[in-house]
Amino acid sequence: MNVLLGIGGGIAAYKAPELVRALGKRGHVVRCVPTASALRLVTAEALAAVARQPVSTTLWTSDGSMPHIDLARWADLVLVAPATADLLARFALGLADDLLATIFLALEPGKRVLIAPAMNTQMWLKPVVQGHAAALRAGGARLLDPVPGNLACGEQGIGAMVDVDSIAEAVDG
Ligand SMILES: Cc1cc2nc3c(=O)[nH]c(=O)nc-3n(C[C@H](O)[C@H](O)[C@H](O)COP(=O)(O)O)c2cc1C
Repeated sequence: MNVLLGIGGGIAAYKAPELVRALGKRGHVVRCVPTASALRLVTAEALAAVARQPVSTTLWTSDGSMPHIDLARWADLVLVAPATADLLARFALGLADDLLATIFLALEPGKRVLIAPAMNTQMWLKPVVQGHAAALRAGGARLLDPVPGNLACGEQGIGAMVDVDSIAEAVDG
C-alpha cells in the first residue's frame, strides 16, 4: 500500500524513522511529508534514507509538478503521526497553508486517514482541541488517541503518541 506519512512538529517526531521502518517491514511504500516544525526535530535525510523514497517539504516547485495533488492521489492511506494540536486545528478548519495541510484538503472522499495526536496533557484536554478532533472523526478520519505516559514536558499524563507497533497495526487493520 502507498502510505503518505505526515509528520507534525511534536517531540514524538523523533519516532518517525522507526515508524517508517515498521511500515516498510509490512510491505508498504512510505513517502514522508514533514512540516517545517517537524524538520527541527527529525531530518529529511534520515526519513528519505529509511523510506528509500523522496521526502516532500514544500508546495512550491519549478518543474511543473503539484506535490499537493500528486501526493494526495498517490496515497492509498494518509497517516499523520505525530499530529500536533496545530495540525488538528488546521485540518479541521480546512486551512491549506503548507504542503501537508493542502494534501489533506485535496484528498478524495473515502480516502483512509489515520491521525495519531501527541501533545501535553493540558493541550489535549482543551475543549477547542477536542472539538477539532471530533470534527476530524466526523469527517471520516480515524484518530489513534494519545495514551498516558511520561511526556517530554516532564509531566505524566495523557498525551503520549500511541506506540509505533500499534500505529503500524492500525494501518493494516
Ligand atoms: C521542543 C518542542 C516540542 C513540541 N512538542 C509538541 C507536541 O508534542 N505536540 C504539539 O501539539 N505541539 C508541540 N510543540 C509545538 C509545535 O511545534 C508548534 O505548535 C508548531 O507550530 C507545530 O507546527 P506543525 O503543526 O506545522 O508541525 C512543540 C514545540 C517544541 C519547541
